[in-house]
Amino acid sequence: MYKHLYSRFLKAHPQELHFACHSHHYWPDVTREAHLEYWDDACKYVDNKWTHIFSKKVPQAQKLIAEVLHLSHPQQLVFAPNTHEFVFRLLSSLDWTQKVRILTTDSEFYSFDRQINRLSEFKNFEVVKVPTLPISTFHERFEKEMTSHSWNLIFLSQVFFNSGLACDVERLAQNAPVESLFVIDGYHAFMAVPTNLSSLEDRVFYLAGSYKYAQGGEGACFLYVPPKTRHRPFHTGWFAELSHLSAVGSEVGYPVDALQYAGSTMDFSSVYRLIAALEKFKTEGLDIIQIHNFVERNQTLFLEEIEKINHPLLNQQTLMRGEGTRHGHFLTFALPSGESTQKMVAALAQNHVLTDSRGNRLRFGFGLYHDEEDIRRVVSVISQVSI
Ligand SMILES: Cc1ncc(COP(=O)(O)O)c(C=O)c1O
Repeated sequence: MYKHLYSRFLKAHPQELHFACHSHHYWPDVTREAHLEYWDDACKYVDNKWTHIFSKKVPQAQKLIAEVLHLSHPQQLVFAPNTHEFVFRLLSSLDWTQKVRILTTDSEFYSFDRQINRLSEFKNFEVVKVPTLPISTFHERFEKEMTSHSWNLIFLSQVFFNSGLACDVERLAQNAPVESLFVIDGYHAFMAVPTNLSSLEDRVFYLAGSYKYAQGGEGACFLYVPPKTRHRPFHTGWFAELSHLSAVGSEVGYPVDALQYAGSTMDFSSVYRLIAALEKFKTEGLDIIQIHNFVERNQTLFLEEIEKINHPLLNQQTLMRGEGTRHGHFLTFALPSGESTQKMVAALAQNHVLTDSRGNRLRFGFGLYHDEEDIRRVVSVISQVSI
């Protein structure tokens, strides 16, 4: 139904059933033109390239992202090549000369997890990770921690990368202590799970990127900064000087808008591609609800077909699924061991089915370039694979 949008990637892999779009999404055809447009703009504008990008391209991308997330301050979005840069910049806005207390979960992506694991080797860093499982009690357990201590930073994912399980970030943000920085990692939700941040826009920082469901490829990550934020992250770059600075005496000045979280020179071709992908969905009349419903229907069909084959490893018992409809765009099965999971990924790949894994968890990602026939074919391959 939507395969025509991806004709180039699909043609390049005619035999492949690509079910790793949660990891490395195929790029829509329009991103190729956008990539070339960046080259042409570099040639056309040369020294004036940044002026063109910051006056035309960045506002265009900000507007498109703000529409998806229901944010009324598009100018509060800032770009960086990866989310790790934002993670560290956020951490660097805390006062490291005092005790730094961080509340998070045991299921955060490595960009954050590895960084805080390293920082917690310093005596003044204290990190508490709430287990996401069982997900049925996660919100109560997280809220209990949130309110029974004071935290400088609360950081959690909207959709957890190691399960696809999703949490109610609105509920958690509303119940969080006002003095804590509240940061949502929305990478597995942006352009996948319908998200309305309008009631949280004065409260939360939201980070995500274009490599997955936004389909612009790597390099265009963004951070939403609540409008009244006045931070002085010590990890800071010269793009922060592109806006009006406020400084006292000889202090380093910071802008009052989202650029207080800016870094420095980056390759904006990714932002061009992101704009092209988001514009294309609009012209196709595809909004986030339609995309989500399409993927959900395919996930349901996949699970119905899986049920029929009575697979020893992939079945209702090993499927990680919470109650209700809140779930990301990949389905995860918890297998007996990391080794059996690796074997399963390899056996599927030998049969042209591309998936991926995290430890003992096997992940199947669903996207717009799958149709019902693909779903039935992938389940048929699964039924024949033995490890
Ligand atoms: C939840 C989550 N956050 C962030 C990222 C990307 O991090 P970075 O941009 O630092 O590479 C990923 C990548 O898979 C992810 O799953």
